[in-house]
Amino acid sequence: MRQNQRASITGIGSYLPNKVLTNYDLEKMVDTSNDWIIQRTGIKERRIVENGVTTSDLATQASLRAMEDAGVSPKDLDMIITSTITPDHIFPSTSCYIQQKIGATRACAFDILAACAGFIYAMSIGQSFINSGAMKTILVVGAECLSKITDYTDRATCVLFGDGAGAVVIQRDPIKHEILSSHLAADGSEADVLIMPGGGARNPASLESVQQRLHYIQFKGKEVFKLAINNITNLILETTRENGLTLNDIDLIIPHQSNLRIIEATMEKLGLPMEKAFVNIDKYGNTSSASVPIAIDEARKEGRLRKGNIVMLVAFGGGLTWGSSVIRW
Ligand code: UT7
Repeated sequence: MRQNQRASITGIGSYLPNKVLTNYDLEKMVDTSNDWIIQRTGIKERRIVENGVTTSDLATQASLRAMEDAGVSPKDLDMIITSTITPDHIFPSTSCYIQQKIGATRACAFDILAACAGFIYAMSIGQSFINSGAMKTILVVGAECLSKITDYTDRATCVLFGDGAGAVVIQRDPIKHEILSSHLAADGSEADVLIMPGGGARNPASLESVQQRLHYIQFKGKEVFKLAINNITNLILETTRENGLTLNDIDLIIPHQSNLRIIEATMEKLGLPMEKAFVNIDKYGNTSSASVPIAIDEARKEGRLRKGNIVMLVAFGGGLTWGSSVIRW
């Protein structure tokens, strides 16, 4: 039997807040319709946190589930890496709050920012630490409270986003789900097409920045849409080739859930049937960093991941950033 020599996913967990915001709720808030949202995005509803709940709260629940699944205790963790664009605070890191909440006192902890591709960036960092032998057990988290940076007066953006968290534990494990490769890319020349302009060093929080609504997500939807399809398609082809595989070898693609039409167009360009893509955007909308680990967890629960399957994770988002990861389940 083949024995894994490299980092493997040994535990998976996710957590969604209970509160549901439906398209019908949004119809009452902005000039939109359930039909438009479903037709243009595939989204029917999304989850939203209650007041006072933060990203680290969602992340903590997802992390505890992933650790239980892996059979590891908080003291086993060497490192916590969280991907988020909605940290509890700009600093300290959300990973440090998670460390405190789960009691992972031995773990070093930091956040990374690569927007919707961030979970794949974070997992590839963890994978490198495991593969090098420097660390044994790493928690990788993708968690967001996008409702906190969504402008609920802007119909072009507010229908898209939701809150949630997902986490994986990675370790060297002879039989579990080996990470075969990770591929990362970025194009900073398009940095401004998907942005939250306020709150950083360029536009620090001020009365004006709030009045100008700079503390919300802004984007050029059509541009991002086209760039997403082209870059994801090319990345899937490149990743497949570099692993010595063909598209037929891929059993399931787990894409970032930003728009059903982006997923459909990508699958069509690749000549792959939609059955080979995992989709749950109808329930949660776009949860940025959290979407891929939530989808992995749900795909597994639905029995879509079988031993030996070749699974491709792929995501695209602000930065622009994109990335993929191939896993032998
Ligand atoms: O996760 C990071 C990556 N993010 C993405 O990949 C998002 C990529 N972009 C998209 O998913 C799509 O561009 C959107 C879903 C954001 C927009 O879809 P679209 O088909 O590109 O619509 P559009 O922006 O071209 O707007 C078409 C029409 C416009 O009206 P006119 O100018 O044709 O009269 C909009 O004003 O739809 C209107 N519109 C809406 N109508 C009802 C825009 N938003 C809404 C809305 N409800 N919520």
